[in-house]
Amino acid sequence: MRSLLKSGIRRIAGAEESQGPRPSLPRGNKNATIIAIAAQKGGVGKTTTAINLASALSRFHGKKVLLVDVDPQGHVYAAIKKQVHPGGGALSSILTDERGGREVMEITAETTVPALHVTPCDPRLAGAEDLLGTRIGKEFILRDALAITRTHYDIIVIDCPPNLGNLTVNALVAADLVLVPCDPSPLAVNGVDALVGTISTIAGRLNPEIDLLGLVLTRLDGRNTTLNQAVREQLQAAYGEIMLPVHIGINSSLTKAQHNGLDIFEYAPECRGAEQYMQLAGIVADRI
Ligand SMILES: Nc1ncnc2c1ncn2[C@@H]1O[C@H](COP(=O)(O)OP(=O)(O)OP(=O)(O)O)[C@@H](O)[C@H]1O
Ligand SMILES: [Mg+2]
Repeated sequence: MRSLLKSGIRRIAGAEESQGPRPSLPRGNKNATIIAIAAQKGGVGKTTTAINLASALSRFHGKKVLLVDVDPQGHVYAAIKKQVHPGGGALSSILTDERGGREVMEITAETTVPALHVTPCDPRLAGAEDLLGTRIGKEFILRDALAITRTHYDIIVIDCPPNLGNLTVNALVAADLVLVPCDPSPLAVNGVDALVGTISTIAGRLNPEIDLLGLVLTRLDGRNTTLNQAVREQLQAAYGEIMLPVHIGINSSLTKAQHNGLDIFEYAPECRGAEQYMQLAGIVADRI
């Protein structure tokens, strides 16, 4: 009975697959560590961290890195557009493909950093966010689309949007590790609580392998020592054991680099921001 049912299902599904089976992509011999950069609050430095961490891991640690932008805002591409070679395609087309079986590596673009690839910006991800909500197994779509892709990279960094919607959940289900940027504001601290709650639910139900890589303080303003200290103490009390021993200070070169479409190591390799992101990459490289 069971096998009759199965063959019936295959026959019906086969009618829909009239375009024939997909050509299978070659497997590589790597097994990437997947790091999601996530925070519920907007503007805390997720994208700045994703770009410069990915670039530093590639430039200074010899890692083959893929930077995946699941945020419909497309800030990754905007921030390093002078370094992204033409080509690639839309991530939304991979995630919303009815037949499944597509891979992120089909749509990546190369960059001027030899071992750094990125997914191009894709505003249609906003529509994909809603469409994913209607799919069975909607939380696993990105993870499945990285199954072969991850065998070609050492590290995959995923830049998440500033919410805990379907795209962020997909990133967390695909991830081995989560890096949480947090700026020194009470709202950002509340956002960390919400995100840690979500990660714990995902660990219990969807991705038992997920772990926190750590929390990194970003956009620290050296002049506002009272607020910095208050937020640091609050974070230390709640998340002391996961706070990374590095912080990213406010540095205008980080913003200027993005306006010029370059990562910080290309734009101002000697600045404080470059030094701190290099430090962060060193810590991350040691821990994976
Ligand atoms: N350490 C820093 N010093 C100065 N400016 C910074 C720093 N980090 C980020 N910025 C700037 O702050 C703005 C927000 O940063 P970024 O885009 O990285 O945040 P985000 O968390 O990705 O935002 P979103 O939630 O919208 O995706 C950008 O203009 C960026 O250039
Ligand atoms: Mg962003």
